[in-house]
Amino acid sequence: MRMVDIIQKKKDGNALTKEEINFFINGYTNGEIPDYQASSFTMAVCFNGMNAQETAWLTEAMAFSGDTVDLSVIEGKKVDKHSTGGVGDKTTLVITPIVAACGVPIAKLSGRGLGHTGGTVDKLESISGLKTAFTTDEFLNIVRKTGICVAGQSADIAPADKKLYALRDVTATVRSMPLIASSIMSKKIAAGSDAIVLDVKTGSGAFMSDLDDAVALAKEMVAIGENVGRTTVALVTNMNMPLGHAIGNSLEIIEAVEVLKGGGDDDLKQVCFALAANMLFVAGKGDMEYCEKLAENAVKSGEALKKLEEMVQAQGGDPACISNNELFPQAEYSYEIKAELSGWISFMDTVAIGEAAAVLGAGRSKKDDVIDHSAGIILKAKTGCYVEQGSVLAVLKTNRKESVNDAERRFLNALKFTDFQPEKEKLIFAHISSNETKYF
Ligand code: URA
Repeated sequence: MRMVDIIQKKKDGNALTKEEINFFINGYTNGEIPDYQASSFTMAVCFNGMNAQETAWLTEAMAFSGDTVDLSVIEGKKVDKHSTGGVGDKTTLVITPIVAACGVPIAKLSGRGLGHTGGTVDKLESISGLKTAFTTDEFLNIVRKTGICVAGQSADIAPADKKLYALRDVTATVRSMPLIASSIMSKKIAAGSDAIVLDVKTGSGAFMSDLDDAVALAKEMVAIGENVGRTTVALVTNMNMPLGHAIGNSLEIIEAVEVLKGGGDDDLKQVCFALAANMLFVAGKGDMEYCEKLAENAVKSGEALKKLEEMVQAQGGDPACISNNELFPQAEYSYEIKAELSGWISFMDTVAIGEAAAVLGAGRSKKDDVIDHSAGIILKAKTGCYVEQGSVLAVLKTNRKESVNDAERRFLNALKFTDFQPEKEKLIFAHISSNETKYF
């Protein structure tokens, strides 16, 4: 078998066999297939797609390309959560301590930023001393001791995805339904939880901008999970504007802590509580109404915040950061973007806003770029808000003074204004389980 023939076959729009998919994944994982062939292959998949059977084979090959985690040593039903990626999406930082505080063990492997989106591991690393790389034993011990660990994907777990994820990030091959589905589900299968809650984003800041495509992606991932015996449900949620008001690594930790302290923006809270309630539901904690109450009480009682502090401490971080924002790295420059006109914000190109944050240092444009944890954007107005000419739309935080003009131009170009109030958008569009797709 030759990789060049497999690339040609996919480029011609033909379906691959299980052997061909295994050949690619094994060869790429062990270094026999070079990056340039892998990127040509992923580009062919972006253009020509894969059918459900090819996607399932790709997922399986990636899930078993390295070690898998055996969570059976931890008592109780373990539940995982994964987002397809968005801008300002700090839900994992809010939800996992809530769910762990309700007694459901969280053994979660998270990713780094991808494309215009942020990643939980990059965000967590803004906490001084906090480690996200553990051996499997260390990881399991932290979960046993504190009921929660959010770690980075080690090189030994789904290594095929680890390599492909980094490659896709810099070869414009992220936006593809089979590549996203296999990337997410391979990690979730290898990570060993009993149940999985997926947050599939749709809108101008999501990899799937169209609602129908997002629902199709959600259904495909739910089917893959259920086929390998994991209870899997998905929420399709709105990414037509950044979630909450902070974009950038330490800024998002600070905002997540606000929610755990009982504050926070309504959009962020609504999505977080819906996801948390679904996690508690698939963990068997009770009916949905009861699970919603459990999640709310975990915040009201302060238990969820305490759980986050315990997690930070157990992962080697400084828990004082959680109560003192000044302990986070601070950007040298702060710059206000002002509205050029008065009017209603009717649209935000959320990808462009994510890219503006990356230009300031919050994201990567090359595989090896180093993240600036202090950089990012604090939004002062979002879609649906009325702004007066000259009022502050956002505050840019950066150590790269030379990037401010570029980021400001990207940000202003990303907004559209109208002279009438736009209709309020839904935050949650659909709930998908193995037997039902419910639209809201
Ligand atoms: N998140 C992932 O883990 N993989 C993707 O491909 C996209 C989002």
